[in-house]
Amino acid sequence: MEEKEISQAVIGRLPRYFRYLGELKDEGVERISSQDLSELMKVTASQIRQDLNNFGGFGQQGYGYNVEYLYHEIGKILGLDRQHNFIIIGAGNLGRALGNYINFEKRGFIFRGMFDENPALIGSRIRGVKVMPMNEIEHFIRENDIDIAVLAIPKSGAVAVAEKLVRTGIHAIWNFAHVDLNVPEGIQVENVHLSDSLMKLSYNIRKAAPNGE
Ligand code: NAI
Repeated sequence: MEEKEISQAVIGRLPRYFRYLGELKDEGVERISSQDLSELMKVTASQIRQDLNNFGGFGQQGYGYNVEYLYHEIGKILGLDRQHNFIIIGAGNLGRALGNYINFEKRGFIFRGMFDENPALIGSRIRGVKVMPMNEIEHFIRENDIDIAVLAIPKSGAVAVAEKLVRTGIHAIWNFAHVDLNVPEGIQVENVHLSDSLMKLSYNIRKAAPNGE
């Protein structure tokens, strides 16, 4: 399929479609109208049609969407039809929580290695994956076909570690450190700030109770 430039806003909505369609598929639903999908997902049917039209539509007039087909096509668009090997840098609370989360594997993200600068942590294991010292990272990335590095370290060390990762030829950084990384073009960075989501929640609480009740 010929792919045109898709806006990041649409890309940002695709995982949600993928999740809902996956659930429908697991429930044995074969097809769904954009109206029913709209009610389920609480987005307008026209938004759904517009989003999916970016990829050629997938829907048929009077039939709706074939759930299994759409699920697989969105998966392909998101690159989930291939495996991604990832490492985690920082074996602290966050790094361990991410390493312990088994559902990433179901989506094809395979946890391969963990790194930390603290000698006391070297050799410990998270779900069988060993914590290794930082001086082994370059070799490990090259030898194990790692394409994603998860940064779960404080911002103080994140820039230097990111530079090191870039030199190894890593493709993507999932950045939890609270710092913006300057990486060369071609390297993908996805910043995650859980507190942003919490602040949005706080805003909505405030908006729902404008008098501070
Ligand atoms: P933690 O203190 O439990 O773990 C940090 C680990 O990183 C430690 O094991 C430490 O030895 C290691 N480390 C520090 N500098 C390093 C370096 N330069 N190279 C290799 N390893 C290094 O902290 P926690 O709770 O796991 O959080 C990690 C970081 O993630 C924190 O800086 C925090 O601000 C950030 N964070 C971000 C969140 C987000 O939503 N973006 C959510 C939670 C934490």
